[in-house]
Amino acid sequence: MPLRRSSRRHSREEVDLNIKVTQKTPLRGEVTPPPDKSISHRAIILASLSEGKSIIRNFLRAEDPLRTIKAFRQMGIEIKEFKEEELVINAKGLIGLREPENIIDCGNSGTTMRLLCGVLAGQPFRATLTGDESLRNRPMQRIITPLTGMGAKITSEAGYPPLTINGGNLKPIHYKSPIASAQVKSAILLAGLYCDGVTTIQEPGRSRDHTERMLKAQGAEVEIEDLQVSIRGKANLKPLDITVPGDFSSAAFFIVAGIIVTDSEILIKNVGINPTRTGLLEILKMMGARIEVENEGEVSGEPVADLYVRHSVLRGVTIGGDLILRAIDEFPILCVAASVAQGITKITGAKELRLKESDRIASMTEELRKMGVSIEELPDGVIIEGRERLGDATTHSHGDHRVAMAMAVAGLVAQGKTIVEDTACIDTSFPGFFEELNKLK
Ligand code: S3P
Repeated sequence: MPLRRSSRRHSREEVDLNIKVTQKTPLRGEVTPPPDKSISHRAIILASLSEGKSIIRNFLRAEDPLRTIKAFRQMGIEIKEFKEEELVINAKGLIGLREPENIIDCGNSGTTMRLLCGVLAGQPFRATLTGDESLRNRPMQRIITPLTGMGAKITSEAGYPPLTINGGNLKPIHYKSPIASAQVKSAILLAGLYCDGVTTIQEPGRSRDHTERMLKAQGAEVEIEDLQVSIRGKANLKPLDITVPGDFSSAAFFIVAGIIVTDSEILIKNVGINPTRTGLLEILKMMGARIEVENEGEVSGEPVADLYVRHSVLRGVTIGGDLILRAIDEFPILCVAASVAQGITKITGAKELRLKESDRIASMTEELRKMGVSIEELPDGVIIEGRERLGDATTHSHGDHRVAMAMAVAGLVAQGKTIVEDTACIDTSFPGFFEELNKLK
């Protein structure tokens, strides 16, 4: 057993779930990653705004999407959960929500909060959103500015949660966003549903496009031209009947584990390979990784495939720009891959990482240094000098699920025992992560 839990408590707020990881060679077998988190959120939201009964199969039963479900239940939407991760949502169209009696708690989920703001901007009632300590420290001005421009009244703690939204009477906007962010883009498109006429958002780079794909499937008039997306408001959204693909960002931990652990071979099944998300595959291939994309197909409008990965000798690379944007959530695990690559890896153009569930540039620098990695922190990235083997250490997740999983994978190629402290946060996106890793022989 490479991984052992040393303590367990149930609430994330009083967390302390430490994991002990020891070296394991090789990792062999099949893994099916959990359902996609971004798509699960969007399916719950867009089904709740449609007219009729939606069915969502294989939704992600993890803390973040469960926050989105709870929020819509608070606004009067009937959401039933069945076995096998199936949801049935009965909704009454764009104006079928009612004012929530209590504050909506978005927990750790930035996607829940920012996308809900877009929906609430269009409602003829008032609602307040809050979250855990990490979320209360994440910037919301990025959605407050455009939504206020459309006519919503939003109060905040100087641009940070809690937020109170007084919605209604929105007008369309042509918004040039200073950042490439799917959460900002989606919030504006959702608010655009409540406007007469066409709302447009232009981004400096292409962020993930799950919202556009789903809205189109529901019959909304969505136009995409280069980095600009437009939506015509007041559409009647058709209910959804969809199956959520596996999450590429969760699969990423197994992709890198299979590549860096000697003699490994892993088949990762049913992974979403939407090109706005798969920058990591391109980067790892540039580093020399042996990855085969098999069984390509489409599930509910999203491309999927199986990924076959084998242990490979990696070399350092220099990356930035569009490529890192398409691998933004994979930065922590990419840093682990770079730590055991030959030579130097330089990653730039990723200053948004400072504003995620933790400051991921600082978190990964601090934690990998504990394992003996030579890593230099840049304002918008890192420079890492790879080494053959990592040293053992007691590391910490910083309360960030992706840092926790990345450090656990680092422990697989470290000498001796690696402790990862505070891993309960993994339940926000990948409940069962350690069980899946332990299944590999
Ligand atoms: C997400 C968008 C990305 C990503 C986050 C999920 C989404 O954030 O980092 O984990 O589901 O829309 P930004 O929109 O801030 O780029």
